[in-house]
Amino acid sequence: MPICVAVPDETVPGERRVALVPAVAEQLTRQGLEVRIESGAGAAAFYRDSEYTTAQLTGDRAGLFGAADILLTVQPLDRTAIGQLKEGACVIGFLHPHEHPECTALLRDRNITSFAMELIPRLSRAQGMDALSSQASITGYKGALMAATRTARFFPMLTTAAGTIRPAKVLIIGVGVAGLQAIATTRRLGAMVEAYDVRPETREQVESLGAKFVDVHVKAEGSGGYARELTEEEKQQEVAVLAEHVIQADAIIATAAVPGKKAPCIISAAMVDEMKHGAVIIDLAAESGGNCELTVPGEAFGHERVMIYGPLNVPAMLPVHASEMYAKNLYNFLSLIVRDGELDPDWDDEIVTASVLTHAGEIRHEPTRKLVEAAS
Ligand code: NAI
Repeated sequence: MPICVAVPDETVPGERRVALVPAVAEQLTRQGLEVRIESGAGAAAFYRDSEYTTAQLTGDRAGLFGAADILLTVQPLDRTAIGQLKEGACVIGFLHPHEHPECTALLRDRNITSFAMELIPRLSRAQGMDALSSQASITGYKGALMAATRTARFFPMLTTAAGTIRPAKVLIIGVGVAGLQAIATTRRLGAMVEAYDVRPETREQVESLGAKFVDVHVKAEGSGGYARELTEEEKQQEVAVLAEHVIQADAIIATAAVPGKKAPCIISAAMVDEMKHGAVIIDLAAESGGNCELTVPGEAFGHERVMIYGPLNVPAMLPVHASEMYAKNLYNFLSLIVRDGELDPDWDDEIVTASVLTHAGEIRHEPTRKLVEAAS
């Protein structure tokens, strides 16, 4: 019997992505896996049931969960869904374990093997599975377009009979995957772009995209290529240099994040008060609290003469490509853990050990284990 790979409809409000697109579902069936899809799962991403030609479609959600050997999801499963899985099944998706410790405990207690896509390490070998990157580049692109449409000014320089319009000044805060894509997109739209990050190696990346690097003279590299939290002294240093650039910006796209922590608060209310009329802040860090003191996650509002928007789940706003890229990330991860048609992860492989959340009745991700044990 081939193993069953199942894909449910995503039920979290606003989620429009689907874990498998038809082309990737077909690739899996060609490899001898049985693919089952909940009817309508692709609809919000504009994929028809009839396009999943090689998969079995089913309207029986509980039956789908019960049949799955491997369940692929975008958003974390709720308790009901976890309860419907058969013991020993495998779940792969964004699992947000720190936000849902009770679900992690249930995955452990039901002996489910779960892999969290956000825990895939940032190694060259894992790039094809790196869903954080694929989705962050969508966020950066879309964030740049949001800035362009919400600002009260043109982005490009225009020479017209009615005078010359200077290009907009855009400031990008945080130059990870989203920040780099935001630089590239705002540059294409003709803006003058400045960017900064607390990881010094980003200078070269910023300059190679034709933007100006703002040096705040803070070096805060953490582990795994990520930034660490700044000390109080470093925060003051950062703000002292940055305030000037914030005040001059026509648009700010903020993406600064520190894994597992609240996003650093970098733009104070006082700085916003000093900003140009008609300027805009797109706070892409809103999901983890925001880089601006005034951000209200999920809301767009005017403060004095500045528009502030902290969008949530931006990849879901581009569901066709977000689903396509995410499905390819899952396919590449499955290629690692499914061997000869069986679920057979190599437990010595660094990608497997880093991304496993629960297995064999244990929580394998140490920070989550501590969190769950502290909560219970
Ligand atoms: P992220 O989403 O965790 O953070 C975004 C950016 O915010 C980071 O560049 C971080 O340095 C910056 N930041 C944090 N605190 C800040 C502050 N106070 N002020 C200004 N900026 C601040 O980062 P993301 O996009 O997930 O990338 C993390 C790292 O992983 C990067 O070094 C990236 O190059 C690396 N990476 C490596 C890959 C690979 O080798 N396969 C693939 C993708 C990313």
